[in-house]
Amino acid sequence: MDTPAIRDRTILVTGGAGFIGSHLVDALTPQNEVRVLDDFTTGDRTHLSDDATVIEGDIRDPIALQRAARGVDLIFHHAALVSVAQSVDEPRQSNRTNLEASLLVLEQARQEDARVVVASSAAVYGHPDELPVSETAGIEPTSPYGVQKGALDRYTRLYEELYGLPTVALRYFNVYGPRQRGPYSGVISTFIEQARADKPITIEGDGQQSRDFVHVRDVVRANLRAATTDAVGEAYNIGTGTRTAIADLAETIRDATGSTSPVVHREPRVGDIRHSGADVSKASRELGFDARIGLESGIRSLVGASEPAGQDAGTVREPHSEPESHS
Ligand code: UD1
Repeated sequence: MDTPAIRDRTILVTGGAGFIGSHLVDALTPQNEVRVLDDFTTGDRTHLSDDATVIEGDIRDPIALQRAARGVDLIFHHAALVSVAQSVDEPRQSNRTNLEASLLVLEQARQEDARVVVASSAAVYGHPDELPVSETAGIEPTSPYGVQKGALDRYTRLYEELYGLPTVALRYFNVYGPRQRGPYSGVISTFIEQARADKPITIEGDGQQSRDFVHVRDVVRANLRAATTDAVGEAYNIGTGTRTAIADLAETIRDATGSTSPVVHREPRVGDIRHSGADVSKASRELGFDARIGLESGIRSLVGASEPAGQDAGTVREPHSEPESHS
């Protein structure tokens, strides 16, 4: 199904300078009036389209949020403290940003009568009992981050039930793509960095643990569908439905980069989830969303991509090869 065109809307993207948010902004500008609320602690100005209006501020600040949200008809809420480890160390601090501030966003949306699409996470499932995990599985998070995203996810649904606000929660699996970097950036960007520097690729544990890796461009498409769907008041898994073992991922990245890095194993991560994979049938059926970018082509285009500049987009255009569709 084609991605819906969204135009002539007034839109707020919280965390719009971040990894996923900045790709979303690229897909929405210039055909909409797009505002970005970001405090730039992890967001990057150089990733932001010139067509977006930037409001520098913290989502915990009601005044900044009010200013950013005045007159909008659509909010994509991506601002968060994304480090699971940090949430374990400082649960109250992450709760203030990931949950309390998110409630401010939902309240502001109520004021403006704006649709809200929120970034939820596979972290809400903790260690899933069944694979692939579907949205009807228990919410059994194993970190404060997962508790916060789980509560936000529930609030999102409640705001539709109680106040008739059109809301959608997207439960992201392991998102990767251009502009992902920094200490919480995930295994794909870590392995690519190691491979490019011909340093050892470090697998934590035996490498047989698996994840569902979804490209950020597909995640953007899921957001656009969530912005127009009639199936509101719902949460959707956003993944590909395919799981990849970390050891296989290491080989794929070594091949794609032509690296001579050795693959080494170190201690498994404490509390690591063994397997994570999305049942994507609900998103496919109700949202009309299917991931299109296979992992190998996604990695190939990532490895071939030049450093992302303001308008490399990655969302609607890739600088090099266009990853193939497998839908
Ligand atoms: C991911 C999300 C997290 C979310 C969780 C939900 C990212 C970056 N994080 O965490 O926000 O809450 O899913 O389930 O997407 N690994 C190595 N070597 C490395 C780095 C990682 O072997 O150098 C392994 C890890 O031990 C893990 C796997 O790769 O088994 C994935 O790790 P990571 O990319 O950090 O993501 P998740 O822990 O799945």
